Amino acid sequence: GWQPLKISIIGTGYVGLVTGACLAEIGHHVTCVDIDEQKVGMMQAGHSPIYEAGLEALMQKNMEAEKLSFTTDSRGGFQHADVIYIAVGTPQNPDGTTDLTAVEVAAELIAQHVVKDVIVVTKSTLPVGTNAWVKEQIRLNLRRDVTVEVVHNPEFLREGSAVYDTFNGDRIVIGAESREAALIIEKINEPFDVPVFMTDINNAEMIKYASNAFLATKISFINEIANICEKIGADVGEVSYGMGLDKRIGSHFLQAGIGYGGSCFPKDTSALVHLAGGVEHDFELLKSVIRVNNHQQATLVDKAKQRFGSLAGKRIAILGLAYKPNTDDMREAASLTVIERLVEEKAAVIAYDPHAIEKAKPILPRSIAYGGSLQEALTEADAAFILTEWDEIKRFPLSDVESLMNSPILFDGRNCFQLEEIRKHNIEYHSVGRPSIKRAFL
Ligand code: UDX
Repeated sequence: GWQPLKISIIGTGYVGLVTGACLAEIGHHVTCVDIDEQKVGMMQAGHSPIYEAGLEALMQKNMEAEKLSFTTDSRGGFQHADVIYIAVGTPQNPDGTTDLTAVEVAAELIAQHVVKDVIVVTKSTLPVGTNAWVKEQIRLNLRRDVTVEVVHNPEFLREGSAVYDTFNGDRIVIGAESREAALIIEKINEPFDVPVFMTDINNAEMIKYASNAFLATKISFINEIANICEKIGADVGEVSYGMGLDKRIGSHFLQAGIGYGGSCFPKDTSALVHLAGGVEHDFELLKSVIRVNNHQQATLVDKAKQRFGSLAGKRIAILGLAYKPNTDDMREAASLTVIERLVEEKAAVIAYDPHAIEKAKPILPRSIAYGGSLQEALTEADAAFILTEWDEIKRFPLSDVESLMNSPILFDGRNCFQLEEIRKHNIEYHSVGRPSIKRAFL
């Protein structure tokens, strides 16, 4: 029969918090441990520190049912656990390698506090070979005579639909040394009813990096096709649709735009290039994918410069700051690059995002202004840049764009509108990989 387990999770970022809430939802008793007191206090009060659809409700429901709790006390948190998940951050060092400090701290805390045999599940993205190192760190610091097994269970969830993805994933990958440990982790996840693939730890580590690198490659590929479409007068929307009809290609991740951002693709692609370099393999293809992406983030500003000659003093509305819709995450967002360039060009920038402004303010240049609404940002603007395809932006009436702006010139980095729709209005429109619609402003 199926039995709920006592699970502890260290690290309450996206991965840890979503995993914790979802494991509690399927019946387990979950304790989430984090060193950040303020964050733990917030979660104890039933609030999610991140904007994520459905997460707060799931937290509150399972806290009330006493299946989910939060603590800064790692000792109490780990003592009785059957399984401990490591879900701390693995950010990128300036040289492209992975910063494993938080993982090391987690390993030491586990070693200090466990009092019985335990399985440690690493959810954090770890470079190939690192799980063996985690195991060694724990073993070296163990205070008691207990057995610790390490299992790698990489996370594939997307921000913004993380809870949905946990219950509807395509696969759960379990990399383990022993079949017994793998079977325990499979059992834990059984109620999610997602297909499980069991393999060894090395392979599981590689699956995670290769998957993200492949998706990033698809995006850079279609962005290059878009750039060529612009030159020959083709429409990348039609091209990617036609390509996607081939099942071997598939229609996902063929949306041209201003490039990928977020906490995974930029970091994982450069980590894989590094990892390859470490074994004397020059991963040329992936290096190009990264180069194409960096270039892609700047193309909209180039288009605007060409259009206006100089951007100095132009009032430019930025619509959307988050790296993608339905999240307030600003990590590696294209808006960072675009706004930095616009400020260099001495444009007067006014930015709007439905959810990300609070997180954006501390990292964007202090000289820019923020609009409380789409209307406010667009009012009297000389041009608008669409950087995130929020529904609110896609549904905003084009007749209002036309009447609010000083000159309704849109640079749409996410191809939010059909060209047919734009043609019904007196709007000049430059998107990615599609013919521009020109008007006689200025
Ligand atoms: C991604 C992976 O999808 C997930 O499996 C992994 O665990 C973490 O990284 P996430 O970063 O949440 O998830 O976002 P995703 O929806 O994959 O988008 C990543 C970036 O690619 C965004 O900036 C998005 O705008 C961009 N993108 C995506 C495109 O430009 N075109 C596309 O067709 C798809």
